[in-house]
Amino acid sequence: MLTVNDLHASYGAIKALHGVSLEVEEGELVALLGTNGAGKSTTLKSISGVLRPLAGTVRFLGDEITGRKPEAIVKKGLSLVPEGRDIFGSLTVAENLRLGAFSSYERNRYQEDLEEQFALFPILKERFNQPGGQLSGGEQQQLAIARALMSRPKLLMLDEPSLGLSPALVDQIFALIETLRDRGTTILLVEQNAERALEIADRAYVLKNGLIKFSGTPQQLESELDLASVYFGGEEGMGEVTV
Ligand SMILES: Nc1ncnc2c1ncn2[C@@H]1O[C@H](COP(=O)(O)OP(=O)(O)OP(=O)(O)O)[C@@H](O)[C@H]1O
Ligand SMILES: [Mg+2]
Repeated sequence: MLTVNDLHASYGAIKALHGVSLEVEEGELVALLGTNGAGKSTTLKSISGVLRPLAGTVRFLGDEITGRKPEAIVKKGLSLVPEGRDIFGSLTVAENLRLGAFSSYERNRYQEDLEEQFALFPILKERFNQPGGQLSGGEQQQLAIARALMSRPKLLMLDEPSLGLSPALVDQIFALIETLRDRGTTILLVEQNAERALEIADRAYVLKNGLIKFSGTPQQLESELDLASVYFGGEEGMGEVTV
């Protein structure tokens, strides 16, 4: 479904990606892990067209989409929920959701999509006419995800959806990700909470310094980490991915 090949990206003189390659098959939930600054967000930004890569290719549903405009990529069925929620605080919940639906302008379809978001996120119905900035952190995260879902993505990319949320809300967000996957949405999930992400992922990649250092199943990653801790005396557990 998504094939990223040898992606290079930079911010001015700072090179962030040095040849990232990864694949996501239809129906999969793939985790992209790595420490701060590894290049996770840069990878998602490059795929979604927010950042134009220096080199490499991104193919989605059979077409090359490298360097296309973000709107065109969303229209094709690939949506990103960026890090830090990024909702419009001065616009109402309704207006935020309408913005996500720009490609589905048909009235019937818009109503149908709204009802679907209300079923997933009842709080958004309650707060429909309130400014997004007045929602709590967890509610804003729900709004950000709902907004992305309004474009009916075939592939949803989530950049640290659990960041800064209370444990109860983290549980809710992870349950929601599983629900979306079970409904047939393909997901590429970036998470600092590696342990939780690996519980639900079919496969995982680990990024380090702008390069993929590991790819495989959660079980394979677990055994490699155990080996690493044996050889290098690293910490046990999956919370800290240091391979
Ligand atoms: N806007 C920017 N301008 C300059 N450098 C940037 C910018 N954004 C990221 N970088 C740099 O690019 C590299 C990769 O950053 P990126 O945001 O992709 O990391 P990340 O894996 O998402 O980290 P985190 O877990 O902290 O979100 C880092 O070295 C970072 O300092
Ligand atoms: Mg990031």
